[in-house]
Amino acid sequence: MAELSFDQRDGWIWLDGETLIWREAKVHVLTHALHYATSVFEGQRAYNGKIFELEAHTDRLYRSAEILGMEMPFSKQVINDACYDNLNKNGLVNAYQRPIVWRGSEKMGLSVKGTEAHLAIASWEWPSYFGPEARMKGLRLCLSKWQRPDPKTAPILAKSAANYPISCLSKDYAETNGFDDALLMDWEGFVGEATGANIFFIRGKEIHTPSLKCVLDGITRKTVIMLARKRGYTVIERDIRPEEMADFEQAFLTGTAAEVTPLAEVGPYKFTVGQIIQQLMQDYDDLVRGVGLSS
Ligand SMILES: Cc1ncc(COP(=O)(O)O)c(C=O)c1O
Repeated sequence: MAELSFDQRDGWIWLDGETLIWREAKVHVLTHALHYATSVFEGQRAYNGKIFELEAHTDRLYRSAEILGMEMPFSKQVINDACYDNLNKNGLVNAYQRPIVWRGSEKMGLSVKGTEAHLAIASWEWPSYFGPEARMKGLRLCLSKWQRPDPKTAPILAKSAANYPISCLSKDYAETNGFDDALLMDWEGFVGEATGANIFFIRGKEIHTPSLKCVLDGITRKTVIMLARKRGYTVIERDIRPEEMADFEQAFLTGTAAEVTPLAEVGPYKFTVGQIIQQLMQDYDDLVRGVGLSS
């Protein structure tokens, strides 16, 4: 059965300080952000009624808006309260949540002067981005022909709609060719990230991940680095050449939607779903659900 279109669902959406019936939360076709990608957004998850790292997500939303030169229309406190308000109003305890800020329809044309920033928050149930089988067997990633751009050429460090066409194109190529997702290199040819998640590699007790020069500063990435160090692993953030993937034993993705998901292959490189990944998956699950680290 086809999935219900996102504009045809029931529920409540927080929009500029009001709670609207889900189907009535609309924007005009002459919205600046629709034409020029002048929007920034977050993806966050609630577990057992608590939004994981909400403050960190709201901080990043602010940083992204700043990179795009947008003045935030609401304070961090108002946004954090609105996130809980929307979660509760929809009767959700385990959910994905999408705050988005965009330049509106007050003005058209490249000038942003005279446009206003608007903020909406929607919440819905979204169990596992890649499904339970992927968590067991690992994902199959292809190599994308697209590269993450130099931060001097795009607002790549912001979580902005402006950066996602290459993710959508790469994801579509992957799905069309029977893969789960794709890995993008950066503009210099080093390993970047997947279409909506950061990537990690394991060799012995070392965990390697690309530095933050052109990948999203993932909140799950930061959390997993902390968990791995707590377990005594050495985490190294650096430039990784694609051919180095041949020397790693295990690999995984991290992201709010993806959580911690193991990889079985990336292009020609094969990985096993080993004990370190399983432990980090468990540690992450425990942390987001408020359970202490198991021994
Ligand atoms: C391009 C990209 N990289 C990485 C991530 C992971 O970030 P986070 O862990 O904060 O969800 C995401 C998801 O938001 C993303 O879209």
